[in-house]
Amino acid sequence: MRKNKKIILSEKEMPKQWYNIVADLPGTLNPPLGPDGKPIGPEMLAPVFPMNLIEQEVSTERWIDIPEKVMEMLSIWRPAPMVRAYALEEALGTPARIYYKNESVSPAGSHKPNTAVAQAYYNREFGIRKLTTETGAGQWGSALAFACSLLGMECKVFMVRVSFDQKPFRKMMMQTWGGTCIASPSNETQAGRDVLAKYPDTPGSLGIAISEAVEAAVTDETGQTRYSLGSVLNHVMLHQTIIGLEAKKQLEKAGEKLPDVLIGCAGGGSNFAGLSFPFIQDKIHGAEIDVIAVEPKSCPTLTQAPFAYDHGDIAKMTPLLAMNSLGHGFIPPPIHAGGLRYHGMSPLVSHAVKEGLVRPEAIHQLECYEAGLLFSRTEGIIPAPETTHAIASTIRQAKLAKEEGKEKVILFNFSGHGLMDLVGYEKFLNGELKDIKLATKDFEQFTAVLKNHPSPVV
Ligand SMILES: Cc1ncc(COP(=O)(O)O)c(C=O)c1O
Repeated sequence: MRKNKKIILSEKEMPKQWYNIVADLPGTLNPPLGPDGKPIGPEMLAPVFPMNLIEQEVSTERWIDIPEKVMEMLSIWRPAPMVRAYALEEALGTPARIYYKNESVSPAGSHKPNTAVAQAYYNREFGIRKLTTETGAGQWGSALAFACSLLGMECKVFMVRVSFDQKPFRKMMMQTWGGTCIASPSNETQAGRDVLAKYPDTPGSLGIAISEAVEAAVTDETGQTRYSLGSVLNHVMLHQTIIGLEAKKQLEKAGEKLPDVLIGCAGGGSNFAGLSFPFIQDKIHGAEIDVIAVEPKSCPTLTQAPFAYDHGDIAKMTPLLAMNSLGHGFIPPPIHAGGLRYHGMSPLVSHAVKEGLVRPEAIHQLECYEAGLLFSRTEGIIPAPETTHAIASTIRQAKLAKEEGKEKVILFNFSGHGLMDLVGYEKFLNGELKDIKLATKDFEQFTAVLKNHPSPVV
């Protein structure tokens, strides 16, 4: 007899604390550096972030309580279901048991609201009335607009031009939640005007949009505006760990022990970290889990780019972070997985790769869309282009389990649905998409800037 397809937790079973992997990571973590090459103090971040979030950013406490108001907002869609992908298993004829954590059930359609509601809450507690941010695919911008609407705050989103044109419905979602959304680069900031003067037809990049959003926050004279980042930083990884903490309870309910393979796509690293960090705690203590972070071949941050100090944005407004980076001036090829086109990577995820706790993998977009179609036609939900990277890797692992005749447990993060990303599917179905490999000369040109920065401890 079949077990349940969905493994559901009650609201009472929702984790009440986030897990901070900083308390357990082996090796030396490299601190963020200021323009003088010295570690920055919390006060240097104060014009950009509220102090209560800065405290979380630098915290070494293993467990951090989730405030009651944040629990209340999370409970709009959490706990998120874990689902056994029986139909996908059957289509692949694999002995592997495949589970996915369905983060697409949030109001904005992805994992991004997990940190959006927390960040908006801490900002409001600190007396902030308005948040600015960037967005790639539009998932993060809509998540923050949603969170701000729950707390009566203003929200302004700089959306990467290419996605702004490809995904008009994302802008409408942000507006419906009361936010404003403009295409980046824009004429509203010095950073945007500088880029437009040099490259009037640029498709934009997350690095440019971050510069615009930071500038818009720090130049607001009321002092009541701050910037909010949807990935990369430690406090964002922290807020996302609710995914993995729920997943642990759900695997136990399903009668499983730890997974053999854990998979997430990685843009800035947050959905991957959210699912994997609570399990990496077990791996640090001896558990054997193959933890895979999947990225596009056209933006090979973890598989090809060096571990170096770099800025998070093109105008160098952010501190230098120790991370895998393709260079802050990187203009990615216009593949459809907008959220995976970032030049950098979470310092914590980069560190975990460096320590051998995470294995990175790069996959071309056609294999990912193929995987997205198979998933849609078996499990029913149309995945976001970013999520298809995790699915493509899952399929590779399920086929491997078949070859090896092993009953592996594979768990992946279904980071978001693709209902606003159908133009990409249309192009794929019409045969208009192709695989794009990053040219060696472009790679060398973009990463050349890294040589001017201090070297991190490896
Ligand atoms: C659905 C979805 N998955 C994954 C990502 C990648 O971001 P991260 O690596 O921070 O999870 C994004 C980013 O926009 C996204 O929208």
